[in-house]
Amino acid sequence: MNLLDVYTLFDLEPIRGKGCHVYTADDTKYLDFYGGHAVISIGHSHPVFIENLKQQMQKMIFYSNSVQNSLQERLATNLGEMSGCEDYDLFLCNSGAEAVENALKIASFANGRTKILAIKNGFHGRTSAAVNSTWNEKIKANINRGFETVFVEMNDHKSLQEHLKSKTFAAVIVEPVQGVGGLDKSDSLFLQNIEKSCAKTDTIFISDEVQSGFGRTGKFFAFQHAEVSPQVITMAKGMGNGFPVGGILIKRNTLDITKGMLGTTFGGNHLACTAVLSVLEVMKSENLLDNATELGAMMREGLSILTEVKKVKGQGLMVGAEFDFPVKRLREILLYDQQLFTGNASNPNVLRLLPPLNISEANVADFFGKLTRGLELLKAEINETKRQAVSV
Ligand SMILES: Cc1ncc(COP(=O)(O)O)c(C=O)c1O
Repeated sequence: MNLLDVYTLFDLEPIRGKGCHVYTADDTKYLDFYGGHAVISIGHSHPVFIENLKQQMQKMIFYSNSVQNSLQERLATNLGEMSGCEDYDLFLCNSGAEAVENALKIASFANGRTKILAIKNGFHGRTSAAVNSTWNEKIKANINRGFETVFVEMNDHKSLQEHLKSKTFAAVIVEPVQGVGGLDKSDSLFLQNIEKSCAKTDTIFISDEVQSGFGRTGKFFAFQHAEVSPQVITMAKGMGNGFPVGGILIKRNTLDITKGMLGTTFGGNHLACTAVLSVLEVMKSENLLDNATELGAMMREGLSILTEVKKVKGQGLMVGAEFDFPVKRLREILLYDQQLFTGNASNPNVLRLLPPLNISEANVADFFGKLTRGLELLKAEINETKRQAVSV
């Protein structure tokens, strides 16, 4: 049997991780400023995470959602306290796309409508309704196009209001900081306008925090920078630090929830709850929201003085560096010559940086050393290519 050939792979296999580093079989050490795609929040193989999961595995790995599970109760309490979202209820599932699917379903249950208003360049996952709300026609099959999605520019207040006035939209879905799209940010005023316009038109406001949630931007959720209160919040990625888990928070009284309306076999299983509880424990004990704010600011400042960087984007430790050339070759040089993992975005000129939230100042200094050398190597390579072209 072959693997389905759907991913473009780097020629490298990390086999173990510790903190913000990963190692290949020959023990080469790589600095991970990609976090396995924003997933590693408290660092690779954090001892608290490992110990808690080990203990839970010895007790019980799984039982279905047909029995009591006090870990889920504890998780709801701790998550409510840590995030400040105590007036929300928690539904647990297994991935970001599944969280978005359920969020859109809740919206349609709540007002009976089917149209979705989404933001250009937004990404919400690859399953049916989630992908239809995503700004990328190439990844939609006809079966996904079962309802109309209207896309507006980020921060285009006028279009937003005009569309919502029709009172035909089930939901507005927005990433307060776009991940895959390239780290563009919604203005606070835009999010406040979404909140107001949704309230006026009986439309559900969904904040997609799959990538920006769990402290990545320096607040627990990115919408909290704008002091708004969405009716539905989606979460995944950093939530489980590598354990596959997702969830949605639904503002109390958004919808009359009846039994059986939502459900999943694996969602909220014992190991998933233990993983998320461990993430919350470490976020609190290591003060990771403050660390994301402080070191995010340090990264932004460092990037802004590099002449090659044309624009610094994002918030907290969800950082984008925009160049005036595609970063594909730079990323290869950083990985293979400098042992530095970075991410890309659908904007080809943006380098996406998503390190674990507990990186240190020394890690940031190391990052800048590698980036500076990588840029020098890229320049030398370009000059050499030009020289050879002239001498031919
Ligand atoms: C904002 C956002 N929503 C949803 C998803 C989908 O998550 P998953 O890949 O876990 O299905 C992603 C994944 O990158 C994302 O960035």
